[in-house]
Amino acid sequence: MDKKVTIIGAGNVGATIAMRLFEKELSDIVLTDVVEGIAEGKALDIKESGKIGGHDVDIKGYTSDYSGSEGSDIVVITAGITRKPGMSRDDLLAKNMEIVEGVVKEVVRFSPNSILIIVSNPLDAMCHLAYEVSGFPRERVIGMAGILDSIRFSTFISEELNVSIENINAIVLGGHGDTMVPLPRYTTVCGVPITQLMEKEKIDRLIQRTRDGGAEIVSLLKTSAFYAPSAATVEMIEAILKDKKKILPCSVFLDGEYGIKGVFLGVPVKLGKGGVEEIIEFELNEEEKEALNRSKEHVKSLIERMKNLRKSRA
Ligand code: LAC
Repeated sequence: MDKKVTIIGAGNVGATIAMRLFEKELSDIVLTDVVEGIAEGKALDIKESGKIGGHDVDIKGYTSDYSGSEGSDIVVITAGITRKPGMSRDDLLAKNMEIVEGVVKEVVRFSPNSILIIVSNPLDAMCHLAYEVSGFPRERVIGMAGILDSIRFSTFISEELNVSIENINAIVLGGHGDTMVPLPRYTTVCGVPITQLMEKEKIDRLIQRTRDGGAEIVSLLKTSAFYAPSAATVEMIEAILKDKKKILPCSVFLDGEYGIKGVFLGVPVKLGKGGVEEIIEFELNEEEKEALNRSKEHVKSLIERMKNLRKSRA
């Protein structure tokens, strides 16, 4: 195929992204991991499934070797440790910043023109790190989170109202954590805002479940979610490779949009072949603005922590 996507990290999320991409025949695929054999094994296993769907996609795995990733159009970073029950995404900061920093340096060496999609947690802070370390323009460093949070919110609304998931358009902004900002006024069922369809108490309950969505899965699986996160990532990859100009909530570096400067935060963006082609600004009411600002402050505090950790390790 004439497109190439590299996935760093062949754990549950990385390998499931690879499988979804393979089945959609969106690009050739390179999978890498630091654990000996795991990327090669999973890539080969996926490749051997190709006959069933007739997928002529090249997929290769490598252990701690980035040479196969050379010239990738998109590099997805899923590397890092994942949550165990009782841990927040923020608890992963100290370990994952080391991992992500090392990975980004290698990625940039082999694919200087790629678009980075960050999946590692804590998401918005890892995006910030990847942005700084890569030196890429902000259009080419994008975090996967808003889509995941939005599809979770959609699922809960669909269950609650007994309506097809296809009729639901949910939108969640902000950081990927406890301060995320689901927007009920802009969340619709066939065009009708859910604020007209449900009591406030019910909406609040679904919002809370969305905020706790990652932790709910962790408490059941004893590790992080991967089916929904991988689906969300592939939606971004598809929008970029097919130059769809699709509007999706993603974490991007804000430079004054929504009155916020200098942090990554989830907002609606238009994804196309250039990566983030536009940041879409919705009108927010005071309550929504405040919630987004709280989220910004939280992400800023993580970046500050990260800076101090980097300084102390230097
Ligand atoms: C979650 C992880 C991927 O929300 O952050 O499940």
